[in-house]
Amino acid sequence: MVTGAAGFIGSTFVRRRLAATDDHITVVDKLTYAGNPANLRGLDEDPATRDRYRFVQADIADEPLMRELAAESDAIVNFAAESHVDRSILEPAAFLHTGVMGVYSLLEAARAEHERRGGGSSRESGGSSTPGRPAAPVSSASSGFRFVQVSTDEVYGPVPVGLSRESDAMRPTSPYSAAKAAGEHLVSAYHETHGLDTVITRGANTYGPRQYPEKLIPLFVTNALDDEPLPMYGDGMQRRDWLFVSDHADGIGVALDHGESGGAYNIPGDGVERPNRAVTEAILEALGKPWSLVRRVPDRPGHDRRYALDGTRLRALGWQPQVAFEEGIATTVAWYAQNRDWWEPIKRGDWADFYRAQYAWRLEQSVEA
Ligand code: NAD
Ligand code: DAU
Repeated sequence: MVTGAAGFIGSTFVRRRLAATDDHITVVDKLTYAGNPANLRGLDEDPATRDRYRFVQADIADEPLMRELAAESDAIVNFAAESHVDRSILEPAAFLHTGVMGVYSLLEAARAEHERRGGGSSRESGGSSTPGRPAAPVSSASSGFRFVQVSTDEVYGPVPVGLSRESDAMRPTSPYSAAKAAGEHLVSAYHETHGLDTVITRGANTYGPRQYPEKLIPLFVTNALDDEPLPMYGDGMQRRDWLFVSDHADGIGVALDHGESGGAYNIPGDGVERPNRAVTEAILEALGKPWSLVRRVPDRPGHDRRYALDGTRLRALGWQPQVAFEEGIATTVAWYAQNRDWWEPIKRGDWADFYRAQYAWRLEQSVEA
């Protein structure tokens, strides 16, 4: 059961998982503004996948339905979330609904299955662990039902120097990352208290085809394609380690298949930190567009200056990022240039209201970047 898979990363995960394994997958997605059935198009018709795939439109906070669906599954991979930091600053309620009550409802569904299948509590089975610390292997008291929570590097908060390790404290700074951290705490609590077989992944900033055009890279690519301004927050020297979407999806797959019960796994990018200015330059260069499109606008409140992840734990399970930034950004820019029919309708819908609220006043106050 894969929740939130009509979105950007979840749809990539489902496509790759169906291609690489014999898994049967039930996608559960509410189809919020960010959920797009086009991301999963063809899976219900392709002879290679149609008998192993089904789509259920639902809210993960619908606990009775989640219980029914969990009873037909042997794992839940939870991608469902409100995922945009700027929206969490404008309107946080949905972040808490999905990130806290939604995660709780999935955990209750997983717990019911765990117990129905004979699973015991962690302490009964001799295991007790904290994300990042060595965890007890799944013991005989395991039910075989696994819960994977797809989380984010943003739970660590900004890291001025060095790399975040899984055992580091969570210090979230935005309503988005606070909701994600709350979800993680619940997952860890169900592992400790009920012995649920859980794994948490914390991915870096992800980019690639089919990302909703509110995020930096797709926003700047699509705006540049239309010769619209690119609103750069503050000095543009905030640093991120960028992760191509297929590498993120595969990292989650490795954690699902091989992660230690109760453990957490960072999923870093290609290891080269880039300030937003450098990302913007790469986009403009790929498109042959001028720097004059870039406008310096008032910053995001509470803007985290830097994230950087230590990926040792996931690499020890055999995962390596395959796509360097130069290749990934070229693929991404080309995809948006060739798939206007995917993003142009989005930019006419809910996106336009959000864009006005987020950027109209910022662009009025903007200066040369
Ligand atoms: P996205 O916004 O593209 O997709 C989110 C999906 O969740 C959408 O299909 C939406 O309809 C669905 N959804 C939202 N609320 C729901 C609910 N209550 N019930 C059912 N479905 C619901 O997000 P994304 O970028 O693909 O991110 C997926 C996950 O990965 C999120 O949990 C996010 O926190 C995490 N993550 C994202 C990044 C990134 O850079 N995009 C990095 C690290 C972690
Ligand atoms: O790090 C993982 C996180 O990456 C995920 O958990 C989130 O779901 C995902 O949205 C992303 O969060 P960010 O806030 O880092 O991504 P965003 O694309 O919104 O911004 C990336 C950087 O670009 C950040 O420093 C803010 C800046 N930015 C963003 C936008 C949208 C701008 O300068 N201008 C913009 O218009």
